Amino acid sequence: MMVTVPVQLGPRSYEIHVGPSLIHKAGALIAAHLPAGSLRRIPVVTDETVAKLHYQELASSLQQAGLEARPIILPPGEATKSFDQLERLIDMLLAENIERSSLIVAFGGGVIGDLAGFAAGILKRGVDFVQIPTTLLAQVDSSVGGKTAINTARGKNLVGVFHQPRLVVADTAVLSTLPRREVLGGYAEVVKYGLLGDADFFTWLEHNGAAVLSGTSDAVVHAVAHSCTMKAAIVARDERETGDRALLNLGHTFGHALEAATGYSDRLTHGEGVALGCVLAFKLSARLNLVDRAAVTRVERHLAESGLPVALPDIPGPRPSAGEILVHMRHDKKAQGGRMTFILVRDIGQAFVSRDVQENDVAALLSDA
Ligand code: NAD
Ligand code: GLY
Repeated sequence: MMVTVPVQLGPRSYEIHVGPSLIHKAGALIAAHLPAGSLRRIPVVTDETVAKLHYQELASSLQQAGLEARPIILPPGEATKSFDQLERLIDMLLAENIERSSLIVAFGGGVIGDLAGFAAGILKRGVDFVQIPTTLLAQVDSSVGGKTAINTARGKNLVGVFHQPRLVVADTAVLSTLPRREVLGGYAEVVKYGLLGDADFFTWLEHNGAAVLSGTSDAVVHAVAHSCTMKAAIVARDERETGDRALLNLGHTFGHALEAATGYSDRLTHGEGVALGCVLAFKLSARLNLVDRAAVTRVERHLAESGLPVALPDIPGPRPSAGEILVHMRHDKKAQGGRMTFILVRDIGQAFVSRDVQENDVAALLSDA
């Protein structure tokens, strides 16, 4: 089964293909996007872990389509989204004699997608790239929408460009090698889509989340394709995040602050921060009398049953204080004129952007959570 989701962005439109074992069709799908006369050598940017597990299959698929894969293998992990690794990558791509009409493949999780996408965006003032995401998070979120970035010592994702891929190929079968905690982190982002804009999808997840998490093919394909459909619709109406795109950050103002307060350590992954952040966003909305407590309980129950943290004591180690979390929230990228931005909810599936939240409400919530 292959589902194709269009991303409608005028001249920058592209398709997301979702299905099991699509890696075997990736060569043909990519070849169809290569302009006549362009290089048949395709740099494939990946990390060591993904390379060991899945590179050979992708290289064969490209070969069958008459293309030559040229591996560029980087260390795994968030630290790879750095100026140093960007410089190394750009140098390796230039050594491949990249031309303006060349096409680069980003084959990995969000780290590889963000870094290779950024490199493609700035190399020779922009070359095309294809995303072949290999984590659930990358398939439902980071490979779609054209945000690319690296981190600096002053924070995550502070340097980057908007650069849309030409094509996204999400092979759901490659997720079978993903560690459970990574699957859960991606699942938090899947749940986020239901919470921000589709109550029926959330209900579907309440019934089918276990099947998604255990890797049941049809359930995974539906979850990925539906998440991409929702993200594509939001990106199509607000490509550069001047409005609605901020809805995709439901749970992220709290989540990012919690990741920072726990030192970006093994204590809390990004997805776990998002899960806890979604619960806090619902609780904040309830404190402001915007949403029923029953909705908060439903969200908390589903995330907890899935195995995700839903309260501050669920984070191992010392509990971060409300003061520490607030310091990090004030530095959030979405802050405007010194005011924090929150994504609040009126119900499951009804999120909106607010800049009117008072800090004392947040402080009180964090002291109770
Ligand atoms: P990641 O890329 O670090 O991948 C997680 C780990 O899984 C890595 O160790 C990787 O080697 C391994 N891995 C990848 N695929 C695998 C597979 N199939 N089998 C086994 N192991 C595999 O992390 P991620 O969670 O995919 O992405 C996180 C990054 O995405 C962050 O840097 C975040 O800022 C970024 N992000 C970007 C956007 C965007 O819109 N651009 C959106 C959300 C997140
Ligand atoms: N992950 C948030 C966005 O793409 O806007």
